[in-house]
Amino acid sequence: MDELLSHGKIILMGEHAVVYGYGAIALPLFSHAVSSTIEKSDADFLDCALYQGKLNHAPIQLNNVSAVIAEVKNRLQIAEFLKITIKSQIPSGRGMGSSAAVVSSIIKAMYHYKSIFLTQEQLLEIVHIGETIAHGNPSGLDGVVVNSKVPVLFKRGKGIVPIQSRLHGYLVIRDTGVVASTKQAVADIAQLIKSDGEYRDALDQLGKLSERSIRMIEEGNMSELGRLMTLAQRLLKLLTVSHPQIDSLVEEALAVGALGAKLTGGGRGGCVIALCQDEIVRDAVKERWSDENCWVLDLNLKLVKARAHANIALVKYWGKENEEQVMPYNSSLSLTLDKLYTDTIIESSDKDAFVLNGAVQGSSETEKIIRFVDRFRQASHRKSPVRITSVNNFPTAAGLASSASGFAALATAANRYFNRNMSKKELSVITRFGSGSATRSLFGGFVVWQKDENPYAYEFDSADWDIAMIVVVINKEKKEISSKEAMRKTVLTSPYYPAWVVSAQSDIENMKKAIKKHDFKVVGEITQSNALRMHASMMSAIPPIIYWQPETLNILRIVDELNKKGLDCYATMDAGPNVKILTRQSKVETLVEELSLWIDKKNMIICSPGEGATILNES
Ligand code: DP6
Repeated sequence: MDELLSHGKIILMGEHAVVYGYGAIALPLFSHAVSSTIEKSDADFLDCALYQGKLNHAPIQLNNVSAVIAEVKNRLQIAEFLKITIKSQIPSGRGMGSSAAVVSSIIKAMYHYKSIFLTQEQLLEIVHIGETIAHGNPSGLDGVVVNSKVPVLFKRGKGIVPIQSRLHGYLVIRDTGVVASTKQAVADIAQLIKSDGEYRDALDQLGKLSERSIRMIEEGNMSELGRLMTLAQRLLKLLTVSHPQIDSLVEEALAVGALGAKLTGGGRGGCVIALCQDEIVRDAVKERWSDENCWVLDLNLKLVKARAHANIALVKYWGKENEEQVMPYNSSLSLTLDKLYTDTIIESSDKDAFVLNGAVQGSSETEKIIRFVDRFRQASHRKSPVRITSVNNFPTAAGLASSASGFAALATAANRYFNRNMSKKELSVITRFGSGSATRSLFGGFVVWQKDENPYAYEFDSADWDIAMIVVVINKEKKEISSKEAMRKTVLTSPYYPAWVVSAQSDIENMKKAIKKHDFKVVGEITQSNALRMHASMMSAIPPIIYWQPETLNILRIVDELNKKGLDCYATMDAGPNVKILTRQSKVETLVEELSLWIDKKNMIICSPGEGATILNES
């Protein structure tokens, strides 16, 4: 454990029902943190909001703290005197886990001070000592949640299990300022359910609502969770643990669009929570609750990291029918490569920013990326700024499809970060606005980008047969003219462009048939002639667009000779001088040896078919 902070907690569902064996759900309240620091001193000294002075003169409310400090000193055999400074943002006595978080942070700080590793088990064991003094008979729930990164489900006698949350949006918390006794509320409910079956039924329903809400949390079903929360509130009211002030706060939140609202904790006072879909409703609830004693729990993901692999088109996409709408003139087909990829992180930030390969990008690059991110951000009704950090494991913008893997990774990360829940096909429809070829990097193997009213990509064949590609890097420099610009010029000025479109259309049909038959020879022949025709169309533009360098032509010649010698190899080039050689897995070794007579081995990247885009991690 190296995280020194602990945080607050809030009960989402299941209070009171938990006493009768139903599950209760608690959320970590990251916005309310506690940190402790330790220094050597000439006496044991405590510095916190409630008290500053010698530890042995601390007030009785801090007995839990004193006991925990003594316990850790004893376990770690700390003989010297310590000054312990505690900084807590959690209001005490509000059911927000203040005591558990404070003692947790002290324990972590003391172990850190002695540079001794603290296990989660040891931490919870010592927290329990403090919590027994503070609360009599603690369930153990607080100790876990105040140190947990995820929501937890707690059942009496059955322990605590983490819940994988897909919730997005906000929970607004409001303190009523009314102090009430949880103990009394628990005792009163016990009386009620003894006296009348209606109350017992209400309690059972309350427990079932809590347990049903687990699935809503896992599925990210905010509206249904909100509905269950409001139903729970009605039952809690029936069980006499609401309060006029709670009732009116609940009504106010629902009136301005909250998905659900209820009391949290023991009731009859304490706090109220409202579940909000987006920033607009969050702010409306805060305003209606006059923003006083209000806190917000952000349920959104703070960081998502995704990876997408580059793809090389065997039947190229070259030219747009409608540039603004990124409508291709022809369908294209590619192979995703395992060795070339982009990793992209999207995370919350104080301002929008884009960092590529370690360099903070200027305004025009950043705007382009942010415009793309906005397609996801606006749809999720969020405004909060983000920082995008992308790293390519290969040269950027050198005709090696970095924009393909880049936008595919970004789309994948943004889809998750902004909780859009789009399928890969739906995502491909949007990804084209970053880059047309990026639609294909969402998928693995052989992928088609289908010309359509809403062009979309799909995996055509998994490519788990005898296929490989050798990428020959001739020049790592950024290309002089972007593919977007080059396409536009070709479409507008090349007399051969219409012929390109016709031949690309038949290429794709023939390519699909050849792939299905695993007919490598035909796949290779179409790959090579399609690339040459695309380059012919751009070379005939005015002014001509020539991405090739002498070395490009030289390799084309070598590949042709090696193919004639039976090495099954065909060349393809994109918007750059580098050559990609399509071959068979079984021929790679011999081919590399032959090629190395002309090309330095360190300039050859040997690739197999790669996978589609994936989320690497999220938090
Ligand atoms: C030669 O996808 O980079 O690599 O949609 O304008 O961003 P925009 O173009 P882009 O073009 C790729 C062109 C190509 C062929 C291909 O990958 O299909």
